[in-house]
Amino acid sequence: MTTTPVPTLAFHDGHTIPQLGFGLYRVAPDEAERIVSDALEVGYRHIDTAALYGNEVGVGRAIAASGIPRDELFITTKLWNSDQGTQSAFDAIDLSLEKLGLESVNLYLIHWPVPSRDLFVETWKALEQIQADGKSTSIGVSNFRLSDLDRVLAETDTVPVLNQIELHPLFTQLPLREYGAAHGILTESWGPLGHAQVNIFDEGPVAAAAAAHGVSPAQAIIRWHLQNGLVVIPKSNSRERMAQNFDVFGFELSDAEVSAISALNRDHRSGGHPDEVGA
Ligand SMILES: NC(=O)c1ccc[n+]([C@@H]2O[C@H](COP(=O)([O-])OP(=O)(O)OC[C@H]3O[C@@H](n4cnc5c(N)ncnc54)[C@H](OP(=O)(O)O)[C@@H]3O)[C@@H](O)[C@H]2O)c1
Repeated sequence: MTTTPVPTLAFHDGHTIPQLGFGLYRVAPDEAERIVSDALEVGYRHIDTAALYGNEVGVGRAIAASGIPRDELFITTKLWNSDQGTQSAFDAIDLSLEKLGLESVNLYLIHWPVPSRDLFVETWKALEQIQADGKSTSIGVSNFRLSDLDRVLAETDTVPVLNQIELHPLFTQLPLREYGAAHGILTESWGPLGHAQVNIFDEGPVAAAAAAHGVSPAQAIIRWHLQNGLVVIPKSNSRERMAQNFDVFGFELSDAEVSAISALNRDHRSGGHPDEVGA
């Protein structure tokens, strides 16, 4: 097995997260064990799943079969929208842990704010209890807008360690990143390669950086995330592409290449909008 060369980033709660992880969205339940086993063999030690994805059982089987010590793994799962609320959040984490076959996850996230239901502050307080109970080492949010983060900070005692949001060169999310930097909240990029919805690989600055370093466009984009201080969780069903996406520590983009890729931003959202998902 490969020893991971992945750097870690520090949470404000004293724990750390491997900056590069492996995403599990649209990984079929019956393929999850094989795909996560491949990812672990390739060297990934950070796995990002969610109750919604329906593949926590397969993730758990792959972890158990790997023989990798639990403290060498970083496992994230997420609370789905219909489970917002106090008791339903307690039930949801218990079900996720049962499916994963774990005593605790490293990071539990509220998947979407669902502002129309206005339950996310109450749900966040439930996550504080889940953390106090030792069922998740750290707690964070996903798809939270500036106004949602403002409310969590104003109305509760705990700052999320991280906000996982759609982020790629066509949607660079500077306002949320700057807010996170100011409040000690790391930013994690979902859909980092375009969420299988937009083609970023053929964009000029991406192709040019890839050619200059003799790597693929996907590798150049993953470096762009890493060099921007983001946590990044590309997904692939193919062992060859997951290995390629992990092989990103032997080259470095220049500042000019990073800037040119950042300048591709056109606030292009390829996934759901936090105003609407779950409404
Ligand atoms: N919090 C949220 O609301 C949210 C939403 C979406 C995603 N996520 C998380 O973020 C993770 C990543 O996002 P994502 O899965 O939506 O999209 P992504 O990682 O941006 O893109 C995945 C797509 O890129 C392809 N791909 C991967 N590596 C490649 C390579 N080296 N060359 C060419 N194509 C490549 C994959 O195809 P193959 O599989 O065929 O390689 C797949 O079609 C998810 O898996 C999930 O864990 C979270």
